[in-house]
Amino acid sequence: MSDVQDGNRLSQWGALAAGLAHEIKNPLSTMNISLQLLEEDLRERPQVGSAKLLPRVELLTSEVQRLQRIVSDFLKLAKAPELDLKERDPNTLVESIQTFVLPEFERQSGDLAIQLDRGARPIRVDPDLVRQALLNIIRNALQAMPDGGTLTIHTVASDEVFRLDFIDTGGGMDAGVCSRVFDGFFSTRPGGTGIGLAITRQIIQLHGGDVVCDSALGRGSRFTVTLPVGGPEST
Ligand SMILES: Nc1ncnc2c1ncn2[C@@H]1O[C@H](COP(=O)(O)OP(=O)(O)O)[C@@H](O)[C@H]1O
Ligand SMILES: [Mg+2]
Repeated sequence: MSDVQDGNRLSQWGALAAGLAHEIKNPLSTMNISLQLLEEDLRERPQVGSAKLLPRVELLTSEVQRLQRIVSDFLKLAKAPELDLKERDPNTLVESIQTFVLPEFERQSGDLAIQLDRGARPIRVDPDLVRQALLNIIRNALQAMPDGGTLTIHTVASDEVFRLDFIDTGGGMDAGVCSRVFDGFFSTRPGGTGIGLAITRQIIQLHGGDVVCDSALGRGSRFTVTLPVGGPEST
């Protein structure tokens, strides 16, 4: 089969899956609301055996909410976002993310070390999407260091490319996991949807850039993001 036919068939399946996800979304939200009302009722009427029923309803609620997250994450991934490109100082972008995540680091006794290349010139990016892409990497690093540790964010600028390294001191991954982290729905975390890094890669590649993972068990992980300074048209 030719690549074009392959591509068409894939996009047909993609559209079908997105349609299905849309159809699943509304009944899930009805179930979520009904379960929450049921939970409230049970709490207000302890006489109807709620001690036994309440944990079951709570479990149902949390599973329905998990399905809602999966469906909404899938829809985000299925619908490639439109880039709204702007000239931005990339280091300022990193610093704004730092301010945003610092409370999460403090809560977990994690350290955030930022080493910026002060020679960086403005780059053409969709700031909101790039922020989201980088946040996904940072949140994963935090989750990999539940007992504290350090995430170092290091930037290097050239005339063509702005590079960011995210180096954490967490548990790391074996080669098998490392090769699959950007796959949609791949997750090793209980409750994880496996969509974060798939979205990160989609956003970075839409910018004409790339993201790679380098890790080993027990050694921590490094994610390297490269973005073309001139935006996606320049590549
Ligand atoms: N910094 C990291 N250290 C160790 N494992 C990581 C790191 N970042 C990502 N991973 C692995 O990649 C998987 C996929 O990540 P992600 O796409 O964000 O999905 P999720 O966070 O929902 O599991 C994680 O479940 C984890 O196994
Ligand atoms: Mg994640």
